[in-house]
Amino acid sequence: MPKPKHYCKLIPIYMKIGIAADHGGYALKEIIRNQLEAQGHELSDFGAHTLDRDDDYPDFVLPLARAVADTTVERGIAICGSGVGAAIAANKVAGVRASLVAEHFSAHQGVEDDDLNLLCLGGRVTGESAALELVGTFINAQFSGAERHRRRLEKIQRVENNSGL
Ligand code: RB5
Repeated sequence: MPKPKHYCKLIPIYMKIGIAADHGGYALKEIIRNQLEAQGHELSDFGAHTLDRDDDYPDFVLPLARAVADTTVERGIAICGSGVGAAIAANKVAGVRASLVAEHFSAHQGVEDDDLNLLCLGGRVTGESAALELVGTFINAQFSGAERHRRRLEKIQRVENNSGL
């Protein structure tokens, strides 16, 4: 059967997604995890599993970041109060490209151009509805693979590998 001129088949993308949060992101993590599971994604929850106001974000974000780096999960979502500490911690793990994101453009362009593989959110900054939209945008975006973007990422990778710029 001939395809209509503007034929576009929407293929749902189901992913292995890791999620982590400290007390500052705990409530938002629960909301995002429930939503992603309801959409059919396979979620790995790296904690916190209870709300503990004395917990520390590296204890949850670093195991998530390692799982992203070794491809146990395809994408990661890390949430702390501001999202800043989560991004700083996650980017210490080689192979992780994490960023704090609070608006739509960066949620997809970060993936398309920079191969963002770990989205950081501020649980005290970004509201529930906006956060869910950002997560959906991040999950559905794909790296373009363009030569100029690969070239730039290779320059970062050389620093990770201690082989200079
Ligand atoms: C913890 O209170 C808070 O500092 C943390 O969640 C985060 O905002 C760090 O960046």
